[in-house]
Amino acid sequence: MLFGTITLTVLSTLLSSAQSVAALGSTCTTALGGGTAGASDPFWLQNMKHQGTSAFNADPSSYAVYRNVQDYGAKGDGSTDDTAAIMSAMTDGGRCGDVSCASSTLTPAILYFPSGTYVVSSALSQYYYTQMVGDARNPPTLKASAGFSGFAVIDSDPYIPAGSGAQWFVNQDNFFRSIRNFVIDTTAMPASAAAIGIHWQVSQATSLFNVVFNLNSGSGTQHKGMFMENGSGGWMGDIVVNGGNIGLNVGNQQFTVRNVTINNAVTAISGIWNWGFTYQGLTISNCQVGLDLATGGLTQAAQTVGSVLVVDAVVTNTPIFIQDSTAANGGLSAGSLVLSNVQLNNVPTAVTVTGGTTVLAGGSTTIDSWAQGFTYSGTSGTPTFTQGTITGPSKDASLLDSAGRIFGKTHPQYESYAVDQFVSVKTSGAKGDGSTDDTAALQAVFDQYAGCKIIFFDAGTYYITDTLTIPAGTQIVGEAWSTIMAGGSAFSDITNPKVAVQIGSAGDTGVLEITDMLFSTKGPAPGAIMVEWNVHDPSGQQGAAGMWDTHMRFGGATGTNLANPQCPQASRNAACQASYLGLHLTSGSSAYIEGTWVWTADHDLDTTNSANVTVFSGRGILSESQGPVWLIGTSSEHAALYQYNLVGAKNHWIGFAQTETPYYQPQPAAPAPFSVNSALSDPTTFGGSSNMAWGMNIQGSSGITIFGGGFYSFFNNYDGTCNTARSCQDQVLNIDSTSSVNVYGLSTLGTPNQLSVGGTGVIAANHNGDGFQDTATAWTS
Ligand SMILES: *[C@@H]1O[C@H](CO)[C@@H](O)[C@H](O)[C@H]1NC(C)=O
Ligand SMILES: *[C@@H]1O[C@H](CO)[C@@H](O)[C@H](O)[C@H]1NC(C)=O
Ligand SMILES: *[C@@H]1O[C@H](CO)[C@@H](O)[C@H](O)[C@H]1NC(C)=O
Repeated sequence: MLFGTITLTVLSTLLSSAQSVAALGSTCTTALGGGTAGASDPFWLQNMKHQGTSAFNADPSSYAVYRNVQDYGAKGDGSTDDTAAIMSAMTDGGRCGDVSCASSTLTPAILYFPSGTYVVSSALSQYYYTQMVGDARNPPTLKASAGFSGFAVIDSDPYIPAGSGAQWFVNQDNFFRSIRNFVIDTTAMPASAAAIGIHWQVSQATSLFNVVFNLNSGSGTQHKGMFMENGSGGWMGDIVVNGGNIGLNVGNQQFTVRNVTINNAVTAISGIWNWGFTYQGLTISNCQVGLDLATGGLTQAAQTVGSVLVVDAVVTNTPIFIQDSTAANGGLSAGSLVLSNVQLNNVPTAVTVTGGTTVLAGGSTTIDSWAQGFTYSGTSGTPTFTQGTITGPSKDASLLDSAGRIFGKTHPQYESYAVDQFVSVKTSGAKGDGSTDDTAALQAVFDQYAGCKIIFFDAGTYYITDTLTIPAGTQIVGEAWSTIMAGGSAFSDITNPKVAVQIGSAGDTGVLEITDMLFSTKGPAPGAIMVEWNVHDPSGQQGAAGMWDTHMRFGGATGTNLANPQCPQASRNAACQASYLGLHLTSGSSAYIEGTWVWTADHDLDTTNSANVTVFSGRGILSESQGPVWLIGTSSEHAALYQYNLVGAKNHWIGFAQTETPYYQPQPAAPAPFSVNSALSDPTTFGGSSNMAWGMNIQGSSGITIFGGGFYSFFNNYDGTCNTARSCQDQVLNIDSTSSVNVYGLSTLGTPNQLSVGGTGVIAANHNGDGFQDTATAWTS
């Protein structure tokens, strides 16, 4: 809900001089009500004035970010073959793809598809930094022709030549992609064809949502909705698969999948390999098997699916919910499984392992909490091999929806709103050219329109040199990650940090929605606190204050002054300090954050060989929030002190959370080049004896659940020989003895201690070998 009259009344009594305002600090008077788009109007994006640019492209005035595929000749009429036209929209402007480059931030694009049915006869290969967006009011259909020939209808990382193993992009570096609002239809292809809806081999800063797959269910069907064999993601959700052989055939280091429905497939989800997958909200009906995770058969060593967590599932008329390899035991932890709130309706077998042993019976029943794997509690390092009921996650009522499930909210798209309910920051005077100081122009837009219009950041890089204040009540929409880049003397003092983007003030409540934005700095910016988040959901609302598809990127891109030319590997230049703190959730705030990646660059995305950089950020994500906080599919990488720090925090649902320690550490040792700041409750020790950053540090906090975590330390001063020896860093996840925390599906790499209490290692990694990574199934404080 947007600001209603009750809130307006409260605000106007608070503000003696104001009349009726739409957002605290805004001068407009007509609050944005409900959407006013007419029934036959297209999605607002289609008819916005398109003036987005790529600021650091060689020719920003001629390079188009927004491309309507119909402007390139696609018909969407259900009969014309639109493949070539769509690919011409994809490739126009010398973009990054087809092995022309490793990655690029210079050629972003939105490929927009008006409603219609687009027949395609070969793969739509997705170039780097592309958002494929369908009309959100009436999603277009991509219909594979009967004779479709290609790997998948949409392919995010094509093999070249097909089958050779070589690919366009390195799967772990396949960042910045989105696919949303489509129906993918392969029903015209023969059931026997190896049809794949989407090949989604992606990494961080990627999303896929509001996609329906309609697959051929003919006898012996080979159709799959999605194939994802590896990568380092990622978040996806709001997916429906109807029919086919396999709904989702998926493997990745880590992934968060929220709100998926699979009907009438032979196998709903088939795992390939992983370190950890979190499924939140899974509805499976009329399949033969729900999750087939058995890759190892009777040999545990061949079990490549490391860890799966499921919360809030409903499974109906499906003979087997989960099929896994022979149970983990005898020093191997692969096949780790955690279930929380799974409702079975006519599902005779809940969990079975290869060889036919049922380890959890089914029926029509609800599984409250169940796990398979090694479980721990408190400071005891003695594992218990469990195939049974465990202590379930802590779920404060504030985190749950009315049905008792973990609350979820999809990336807002404002599809019921009309074009005139948006205001463009460029039309309002901001330049977004990467060099003009846009601080005053942007502030003026918030001051004038927050709460009355949805604020549209046309694609571009908006340079700010002082704090930008965004009032509670603001809704911001970017365009293929419109960038706010902070720089200049205000952010250059490492001893006097300053907030770059301040969202609300202490005590504020209201709607606050940010989508498709990127926060960044122009170096050196050692004093930049990128985003301070102060807004709390209004009473009676959940997820009103949140971010979706919104990331932080420090260095590693043209225009940041923190890229490879300035900051090559191991250069360790003071001028390569990129930020003080990424995201600060203050104690009065609440936050729903889905898919956010806080990345201090380890390499330069605009080099041909992914050349490394050494840039320094102090801290990743700090939360002092009293909740509720949902961190759904977030990651934080390469900050010097910690990636996540929870201090006096309450009621956080976190899953899957992924971190990496800086590659340069311990040269210099943490916290250098920064110092401990007690005002921000910084930890005072770092990674046990190693003086390396914490993946996550938790102090004085309660009601915290980590439902899937991957804390990785791959290098010690760029040397990777330590990761298989578990010796890159001593400790990575630290929880003080006063905190109440539950951790499930914990995977670590390169450390001998998976989890520490009060700075002392508790869970020994060498007990929990799970292929490359180590996995502990559950730990409760
Ligand atoms: C990704 O998966 C493909 C298909 O299994 C495989 O050929 C390729 O080697 C994998 N790449 C990596 C880096 O694991
Ligand atoms: C789940 O996905 C469905 C289908 O896309 C959508 O209608 C629904 O609103 C989503 N629910 C949540 C809680 O995101
Ligand atoms: C970046 O550093 C890592 C770790 O030392 C190394 O494996 C990789 O080859 C480096 N990349 C380049 C392009 O030099």
